[in-house]
Amino acid sequence: MGLSISLFMLMHLLALLSLYNLMFASSSFVQPLCHDDESFALLQFKESFIINQSASYEASAYPKVSSWKLESDDCCSWDGVGCNKDTGHVISLDLSSSCLYGSINSRSSLFRLVNLQRLNLSYNDFNHSRIPVGIRQLSNLTHLDLSNSGFAGQIPAEILHLSKLVYLDLEQNLLKLQNPGLRSLVEKFPNMKELYLTQVNISSTVPNNMANLTSLTSLVLRECGLQGEFPAGIFQLPNLEVLSVRFNADLTGYVPEFNRSSPLKRLRLAVPSSLGNLTELIYLDLSYNNFTGPVPSSFGNLTKLINLDLSYNNFNRGTLDWIGKQTKLMKLGLENLNLNSSIPFFIRNLTQLVDLRLSKNGLHGSIPNWMWNSSKKSLQNLDLSNNFLTGFHQLPVILPWTNLRGLDLSNNKLQGSLPIPSPSIITYSVSNNTLTGEIPKMICNLSSLDALDLSYNNLSGMLPDCLGNLSFSLSFLNLRRNNFNGKIPQICKKGSRLQMIDFSQNQLQGRIPRSLVNCTMLETLILGNNQINDSFPYWLGVLLELGVLILRHNQLQGAIGKPKSNFVFPNLHIVDFSYNSIIGKLPLEYFRIWKAMQIIGKNGPIYMQANMSFDLLGYTWNSGYAYSMTFTNRGIEIAYERIPYIFIAMDLSSNKFEGEIPELMGNLKGIQVLNLSNNLLTGSIPSSLEKLTALEALDLSQNKLSGEIPLQLTQLTFVAFFNVSNNHLIRPIPHGFQFDTFQDKSSWIVWKSFAKEMWKFQGLIAPSFKSRLKVAI
Ligand SMILES: *[C@@H]1O[C@H](CO)[C@@H](O)[C@H](O)[C@H]1NC(C)=O
Ligand SMILES: *[C@@H]1O[C@H](CO)[C@@H](O)[C@H](O)[C@H]1NC(C)=O
Ligand SMILES: *[C@@H]1O[C@H](CO)[C@@H](O)[C@H](O)[C@H]1NC(C)=O
Ligand SMILES: *[C@@H]1O[C@H](CO)[C@@H](O)[C@H](O)[C@H]1NC(C)=O
Ligand SMILES: *[C@@H]1O[C@H](CO)[C@@H](O)[C@H](O)[C@H]1NC(C)=O
Ligand SMILES: *[C@@H]1O[C@H](CO)[C@@H](O)[C@H](O)[C@H]1NC(C)=O
Ligand SMILES: *[C@@H]1O[C@H](CO)[C@@H](O)[C@H](O)[C@H]1NC(C)=O
Ligand SMILES: *[C@@H]1O[C@H](CO)[C@@H](O)[C@H](O)[C@H]1NC(C)=O
Ligand SMILES: *[C@@H]1O[C@H](CO)[C@@H](O)[C@H](O)[C@H]1NC(C)=O
Ligand SMILES: *[C@@H]1O[C@H](CO)[C@@H](O)[C@H](O)[C@H]1NC(C)=O
Ligand SMILES: *[C@@H]1O[C@H](CO)[C@@H](O)[C@H](O)[C@H]1NC(C)=O
Ligand SMILES: *[C@@H]1O[C@H](CO)[C@@H](O)[C@H](O)[C@H]1NC(C)=O
Repeated sequence: MGLSISLFMLMHLLALLSLYNLMFASSSFVQPLCHDDESFALLQFKESFIINQSASYEASAYPKVSSWKLESDDCCSWDGVGCNKDTGHVISLDLSSSCLYGSINSRSSLFRLVNLQRLNLSYNDFNHSRIPVGIRQLSNLTHLDLSNSGFAGQIPAEILHLSKLVYLDLEQNLLKLQNPGLRSLVEKFPNMKELYLTQVNISSTVPNNMANLTSLTSLVLRECGLQGEFPAGIFQLPNLEVLSVRFNADLTGYVPEFNRSSPLKRLRLAVPSSLGNLTELIYLDLSYNNFTGPVPSSFGNLTKLINLDLSYNNFNRGTLDWIGKQTKLMKLGLENLNLNSSIPFFIRNLTQLVDLRLSKNGLHGSIPNWMWNSSKKSLQNLDLSNNFLTGFHQLPVILPWTNLRGLDLSNNKLQGSLPIPSPSIITYSVSNNTLTGEIPKMICNLSSLDALDLSYNNLSGMLPDCLGNLSFSLSFLNLRRNNFNGKIPQICKKGSRLQMIDFSQNQLQGRIPRSLVNCTMLETLILGNNQINDSFPYWLGVLLELGVLILRHNQLQGAIGKPKSNFVFPNLHIVDFSYNSIIGKLPLEYFRIWKAMQIIGKNGPIYMQANMSFDLLGYTWNSGYAYSMTFTNRGIEIAYERIPYIFIAMDLSSNKFEGEIPELMGNLKGIQVLNLSNNLLTGSIPSSLEKLTALEALDLSQNKLSGEIPLQLTQLTFVAFFNVSNNHLIRPIPHGFQFDTFQDKSSWIVWKSFAKEMWKFQGLIAPSFKSRLKVAI
């Protein structure tokens, strides 16, 4: 025993000795640059955080501190650390996008790195920490970047002591700059060069002294709650190149005369005619302002413009002909400007356009032939949506823009046959026009197509068999409300990328195509309002992403039966089989395994949509194609233009379901709308429905239910629509039902047993229940 202890101690001693030798040896041969106290401070700083990938959302993020080790004693060589070559002091620390998660306070060892000149902690998650007052100790800082890093609260006055700061970026946190406010900041930093405060809650006027910051090159104050008049002097700052004060709804102002020497290259605010003097301007974005008055014709002198966006303003009908001289233009945005004309002729002169947007302008007439030749090769995105265009002057077999990737012709009055874009196309919508004829087979050659929306037209005939060829690229396919008939082709090949298919409101017949099992990414399948003759498509259960399945108003027959395994339809959250001829019992076994209906408040995006993107002029052009549906809620058919990701609903009404409502129904806890009306259900209402605490509409009417309404249903405080009429229920509504929280007591329920009429009651709900309540008993 004694021997073994001393052996252990000896070995420990030896280990210490060799470590000492190692340290001694290395320090005698290599002059370490790094100071021990600073290297310890860095390591301590590292240790005060959790490495957490979700703390940095940038794709390039990685934990820089992972490579920091005590053994590698030259901290100057550590990732993100920079030292002064002569003194060996740490003077810069760049831990941007380093997956740091955790709180930080003034005791942090960071503030012992007093020689720091540049500090970049952007794109981490400091868990709603305040900016520590200890920052004051870093008095040599010239560059401080704490953007996108989860800081919260008032910016401390101590930051004003960093008298050498010339670069300050505090964007995209939850910060306030109110006490001290912007004025103090400006006073303390007369030499500031770059100031980025997007989303910092300033909620004040812009101080006049800001025009004193003569070194300023970039000033970005977006979404800061700025008010009052913007000091005109700021525009005349001699070095200002970037100025953005967008999204400050209460900010007003006008712009002074510009002189010829202004270096301004990017401007996002105002529109005085002297802008025409900024002849070096290449990028002019005046979109989403409320500018009135004519667009100054002096803009015609801005001959270097490459990017011009005037969209969403209230300009009156001054001439825009000067745009015809902007022959270098690659992007032209003229959306929502009330042009009320035919397609402007000046566009004919623009031969290098890549991105042209003319939506929401009341444009009428046809799309002229000269459009083909201008920008024939360069045009990649064309948005003519929401106008009154009637068609193409002469519709070519294939639209001649050979590199077109995005084409939006939706919400016009286009007639004639379906225009086919070139095979470069990625997103194509002609929704809501009056196109006629069949879909040409040629459409199957569009092998890059990601979104295709032909909904709300008068297209007819059979769907081309080759449609399945598109499934390798297509993620969104909407053919809703046309006149298509015949069988649905085998739409999905192996490797299909389809996420959303909507063929509803046509006259399609036959069976649901079995090839849908190849669409493994399918999230939404809407085949309602057709003449589909099939049995319940249990085989779709293998589609793990399927969330929305709508088969209403068809001719589905037979019983639903039992699932073939316990892991089918795991994501299903909206089911609509209403108005079919399904028989047999309610599918108790499915209720047990439909997991997505058993959760309240799932996490995820707000709405269901397919996302497309492609590179356009060096930036990524993103668009989301939202899924939509028609669904009966609270007794009314509602057109959902978007489907909330958290919406959970089941409509099995108007079939021939029989037997009892299973107790297990109470498992579907997340369900918000449940409609079992107009079936042949018997037995009593199960008290387990009390577990459906998210329920807002419950319709059990027109069945053969008997017994009492269970007392437990009084727990359902969210119910805004409750219909159990036309059953054989006895006994009144239980006392304490949330319905007696109505404000308007005069319209209280008058209960009659065996009440026949629906909508006996319609009243207002107490303020906590936002919607109108309808009850029928
Ligand atoms: C990782 O960070 C995110 C926020 O950035 C947080 O919600 C999550 O709880 C963190 N996870 C761990 C294990 O700390
Ligand atoms: C901080 O890092 C981010 C991300 O790497 C970078 O974009 C930013 O310019 C850096 N800030 C400074 C002041 O260097
Ligand atoms: C994040 O902040 C919360 C709330 O203040 C706290 O409970 C939690 O411990 C913090 N997490 C970390 C990693 O600091
Ligand atoms: C700040 O930098 C100056 C040299 O520019 C230096 O003399 C001084 O010691 C530094 N201050 C601190 C606190 O490191
Ligand atoms: C900004 O701060 C003001 C005053 O503290 C507050 O009333 C307002 O709600 C805040 N705005 C936002 C968007 O947080
Ligand atoms: C700064 O601006 C204010 C208000 O515009 C002015 O009164 C003051 O003289 C200016 N200070 C300097 C140093 O230029
Ligand atoms: C823009 O103008 C419209 C109509 O003229 C008005 O309703 C809206 O409030 C204005 N918006 C702002 C931010 O001033
Ligand atoms: C352009 O600048 C000159 C001075 O450089 C000025 O005299 C002229 O008025 C300006 N033009 C416009 C249209 O404002
Ligand atoms: C364009 O510039 C020329 C000289 O540079 C000037 O004479 C003319 O007035 C300017 N045009 C407009 C419309 O401002
Ligand atoms: C088209 O450009 C030519 C010269 O490039 C010019 O003369 C003509 O006025 C321009 N047309 C329009 C409509 O702007
Ligand atoms: C179709 O477009 C018209 C305007 O042309 C619009 O009023 C209507 O709401 C649109 N319908 C759909 C379904 O988008
Ligand atoms: C799946 O796609 C392949 C072709 O890619 C096809 O041969 C097969 O029949 C499809 N599966 C079904 C069930 O139709």
